[in-house]
Amino acid sequence: MSDTLAVINCAQLVTLKGPQRPRVGAELGELGIIADGALVVRNGLIEAVGTQREIEPLLKSDCAVVDAGGRVVLPGFVDAHAHPVFAGTRVDEFEQRTRGVTYQEIAAVGGGIAATVRRTRAASERELVETSKRYVAWFLRGGTTTVEAKSGYGLTLEDELKILRAIRRLNDETPLRFVPTFLGAHDVPEEYRARRAAYVELIIKEMLPRVAAEKLAEYCDVFCEERVFTTDEAWRILTAARCHGLGLRLHADQLSRSGGAQLAAELGATTADHLEHTDAAGIAALKSANVQPVLLPGSVYALGATRYGAARAMINAGLAVVVATDFNPGSSPTPSMLTILSLACTQLKLTPAEAITCATINAAYSLKRGAETGSLEAGKRADFVIHDCADYRELAYFFGVEHARAVYVSGREAFRRA
Ligand code: NIG
Ligand code: FE
Repeated sequence: MSDTLAVINCAQLVTLKGPQRPRVGAELGELGIIADGALVVRNGLIEAVGTQREIEPLLKSDCAVVDAGGRVVLPGFVDAHAHPVFAGTRVDEFEQRTRGVTYQEIAAVGGGIAATVRRTRAASERELVETSKRYVAWFLRGGTTTVEAKSGYGLTLEDELKILRAIRRLNDETPLRFVPTFLGAHDVPEEYRARRAAYVELIIKEMLPRVAAEKLAEYCDVFCEERVFTTDEAWRILTAARCHGLGLRLHADQLSRSGGAQLAAELGATTADHLEHTDAAGIAALKSANVQPVLLPGSVYALGATRYGAARAMINAGLAVVVATDFNPGSSPTPSMLTILSLACTQLKLTPAEAITCATINAAYSLKRGAETGSLEAGKRADFVIHDCADYRELAYFFGVEHARAVYVSGREAFRRA
């Protein structure tokens, strides 16, 4: 079989071509669309991108052809914040919340993250892999080709390693590309509640060295929040993580203004995530260190809250904004980046073009994958999606619709709608 593939007849080939760095300001609105576009893939990499007229003469007779049928072709979405490996669901808590009990009230009586931790500890690595494959299929059919995956539902050395090994297996056994993040500081486990300092020590002295030695994670994250980890504890954990060569991410200012944005800036973190309660001083701090804000409107929506991150102020400040799902069983049970595009437009007030940039190339840079995915340019991996529309704005406008018709990772079909 030929190792060359041509994708022809793209009404809009949305390339995201641009500078080799995350996009800021007006650049967020520049999608590099080629009308009547086509592209050539060789050995899993994009070889050429152009108009149909430019590409046609390059095609050899043995080249496989995919006819996009006059549809939109986009880079695969890059979901830069997700918690996709866990056991069980929290549908019971979801129902309680419909009756008015809050997320924090549920957590205070042993539900929330702790409930998922109990179930995840009881599951084997293989069981977690099999459970998560269902979610992998959801990510792919939604047009996502790269996903960040956090641990954080184990909270013992062995259970955190088990989750990270499950993530590694998912990367090997499925077409979805994973970027692993160690989140041992997702919560203080129940057995350490009366001696939280000892848990912080466990993370620093035992978990981080093992995670780093086994190369199980590229990033370390901390849930910095009232009643979870303080900024001082987060500082200690992330400083230690940096010594082990891990990049830094931070759950910051989600439910209250905890100083997380300032901490992320002080540490030179790659991202600060959530930021629903971040004020102008926090935004200025993020800018001073060029931290990428990762906004997660799915969690605001699913918690029935109304306070979304200040996306426009962040763009005006020159920040390279990212949007992601925060897929998890508690606060954001959606793997759908298309749903996030809708929320980004209706709630964060991004234009459809800005939302797409935040969900592709900017997200890729936030995971150190900007040179290999997130845009359709020669030399990059052929991670692309044929969507069932002829105008890219429909992706954010018609919501709750499965627009993705065919999804390719490294030039290979990873999903096709029947
Ligand atoms: O990003 N904020 C902390 N972690 C998740 C929630 C995890 C859960 O509820 O299971 C989040 O929202
Ligand atoms: Fe999260």
